[in-house]
Amino acid sequence: MLTRMWKVDKDVDRLNTYPQIVEAAGILAKNEVVALPTETVYGLGGNAENDEAVAKIFAAKGRPSDNPLIIHIAGRQQLADIVAEIPEMAEKLMDAFWPGPLTIIFNKKQGKLSELATAGLSTVAVRMPGHPVALSLIEAANLPIAAPSANLSGRPSPTTAQHVHDDLDGRIAGIVDGGPTGVGVESTVVDCTGSIPVILRPGGITKELLEEVVGEISTDPALTDATQAPKSPGMKYRHYAPNAPLHLVAGDVRKIQALVDEKRAEGLKVGVMTTEENVTSYQADVIFPCGRRNQLETVAEALYDTLRAFNESDVDIIFGEIFPETGVGVAVMNRLTKASGFPII
Ligand code: TXA
Ligand code: MG
Repeated sequence: MLTRMWKVDKDVDRLNTYPQIVEAAGILAKNEVVALPTETVYGLGGNAENDEAVAKIFAAKGRPSDNPLIIHIAGRQQLADIVAEIPEMAEKLMDAFWPGPLTIIFNKKQGKLSELATAGLSTVAVRMPGHPVALSLIEAANLPIAAPSANLSGRPSPTTAQHVHDDLDGRIAGIVDGGPTGVGVESTVVDCTGSIPVILRPGGITKELLEEVVGEISTDPALTDATQAPKSPGMKYRHYAPNAPLHLVAGDVRKIQALVDEKRAEGLKVGVMTTEENVTSYQADVIFPCGRRNQLETVAEALYDTLRAFNESDVDIIFGEIFPETGVGVAVMNRLTKASGFPII
């Protein structure tokens, strides 16, 4: 399949009337799948009302069919069509954070959405993305758009159109290139079907910010206890992994350097994933900084690009620094531990 590329300037007015957006929206309406930028990561969008379109999303990514998709909407009127009811806590969260990197789980209204999109669950994940290109494309298509991250299943999520192209060229109808995304990690997923909100996946909106709006909030215990089954089906899969094994290290530069030296002495090519502050402190075969430690938002923004960059190098093993689990650091460490798959050294 020929994968079209549309470049759009996200800052122009009335984007939904732009020829590139109108063309991409027309392709979505024909139940083909198109990658689009959001403020978190690129998504692979398809008509959420149509089984054929949703099946194409799962096929292009190689995604397990028991992992439901997030439904992206451009306005509150679209929400009423797909959810059974809107709890007060969800109302407060939407007022505070939509459009933006927050996904809310609702009880589903039967009949409207493709059953494949929600993996047959009685609930549905919905978000209104805070990106002008995503919003205008959804508006122009006039459809709810199911969109997982636009990577091959298991690989780091894409934060540029080039990342999408690297994974999905020839497998999807097109890519709308709106430049690099901003937040860098996926949306926070919050379940609002119970008595208090529960964080199922940490993300762009921190727990602290959510608490300011709704008060008490809990976190799925499976996020910190590997023996529990996660409430969000996607959280049970290994994810984001670079090709070479990634070992996270709790400790200073000297501890990491000693590990690097040991592996190099065995003849291995060793990579280090560090931050701008420490980039000149190591001696290794490949050293990539991932944002600035003193500003965790920059680490989130650079995370997936850095993990992907190691795949372009020929390292045999990677050692990575860890980050404090405060603010967006919670999401960063969640993704890093999944990318690693090993206990922290
Ligand atoms: O920022 C994002 O959320 C990006 C952009 C493209 O919007 N999307 C994204 O989608 O990260 P995906 O498919 O990679 O992750 C969706 C997560 C998965 O962990 C999935 O299991 C969970 O949301 N999810 C979807 N529907 C759910 C439901 N009804 N109940 C619980 N978890 C659900
Ligand atoms: Mg994903």
